[in-house]
Amino acid sequence: MKNIYLIGFMGSGKSSVGKQLAERLQKPFIDLDQFIEEKNEKSIPDIFAEGGEASFREYEAEALNSVKNKGAVIATGGGIIETTGNQVVMESSGKIIYLHTDFDSIIERLQDDPNRPLWNQDHKKRHALFEKRLPTYKEWADVTVNTTDRTVDEIVVQVVDVI
Ligand code: S3P
Repeated sequence: MKNIYLIGFMGSGKSSVGKQLAERLQKPFIDLDQFIEEKNEKSIPDIFAEGGEASFREYEAEALNSVKNKGAVIATGGGIIETTGNQVVMESSGKIIYLHTDFDSIIERLQDDPNRPLWNQDHKKRHALFEKRLPTYKEWADVTVNTTDRTVDEIVVQVVDVI
């Protein structure tokens, strides 16, 4: 049984949609960030503080490899697309759904969040990161679903419809 991978920027609803989608499809749900924290017994901010983003990306790629055959709904971290090799792992083991949310809505949803080191920077940098990542999310996705101004229920219905 193949995985369903939810990708998208921080605050696009991957975890809340993923939980509900997994229930609906009767598949296990895995939040990749939580998986990394539990497996390594370290919080994400601590991993960033100790080894920087590069070290976090190694933990992330390793975690992705450990869950690729689980037949689960997987909420990935917003930067899963920063590691080129993750694309082939995901493509070969499941379907990739991109949850797209407008930047303004992301600002409203996240505000300031100390648990997200790459959100915790000045506004210009956040926006540049968003713009830089957009084409890659679209390129990696089998399907794009717009989550701006939509409830989790509505998004889940649409995802079920397109998979
Ligand atoms: C990151 C997003 C986070 C987490 C880490 C890095 C990113 O996950 O993986 O802080 O690079 O966008 P969420 O998308 O669940 O916030």
